[in-house]
Amino acid sequence: MNKNDYTIRLEQKEDYKEVENLTREAFWNVYRPGCMEHFVLHCFRGDKDFVPELDFVMEKYGQIIGHVMYAHSAIKADDTIPIMTFGPISIAPEFKRQGYGKALLDYSMERAKELGAGALAITGNILFYGKSGFVIAKTKGIRYEDDPDADYFLIKELKEGFLDGISGTYKDPEGYFVCDKFPAEFEKYEAQFPYKEKLELPGQLV
Ligand SMILES: CC(C)(COP(=O)(O)OP(=O)(O)OC[C@H]1O[C@@H](n2cnc3c(N)ncnc32)[C@H](O)[C@@H]1OP(=O)(O)O)[C@@H](O)C(=O)NCCC(=O)NCCS
Repeated sequence: MNKNDYTIRLEQKEDYKEVENLTREAFWNVYRPGCMEHFVLHCFRGDKDFVPELDFVMEKYGQIIGHVMYAHSAIKADDTIPIMTFGPISIAPEFKRQGYGKALLDYSMERAKELGAGALAITGNILFYGKSGFVIAKTKGIRYEDDPDADYFLIKELKEGFLDGISGTYKDPEGYFVCDKFPAEFEKYEAQFPYKEKLELPGQLV
């Protein structure tokens, strides 16, 4: 990878199917046998928390190899403090671990900052997100409501000092739980994609 062999642009309607397939390919068997993140993306584009200005695809020689979307979210403290989260973030399997994910994340975070976001929260792998400045959120006084001691709940200030003096809890936006709410719709949606074998693999969360 070098700085000149990819471009990043906003996702267009015509990209939706291709990007959902890319998301499915990227997440397949990673956190569970199969995956659901492509359905989350499919539904989230119509959600009130979706941020269309931060819905990016990464292209390499005309092929979409990456995608990320952002969502409005909030920390519950004495007041409600609006922040953002993001994801799914996906890099096509054949392009993983070549620096593209970090490049897409860093680009999108700059745009999120320009749009006024003060901080970003995410549940994820510190080994990846730490490279882009995320820290374990509880060290900053912000805890994941469903698992307050979680080390996988991460946060990054986009505005220096934004989290100073804040102590609170965080819940993911409702839109991320669509698969739990509509399992039958998910199965119908998933059936439109080419068959892929679901495997139980070491390191999966579910
Ligand atoms: C996670 C993902 C977006 C990262 O993109 P990527 O292009 O593979 O990652 P990068 O090459 O930019 O990684 C940059 C650095 O982060 C770290 N890193 C990235 N993925 C990692 C992993 N799975 N485990 C440990 N460290 C990781 C590494 O230090 C890497 O540098 P290195 O390859 O020189 O060691 C991509 O692998 C992906 O689509 N994964 C499946 C979907 C997913 O898990 N999305 C995130 C959900 S929270």
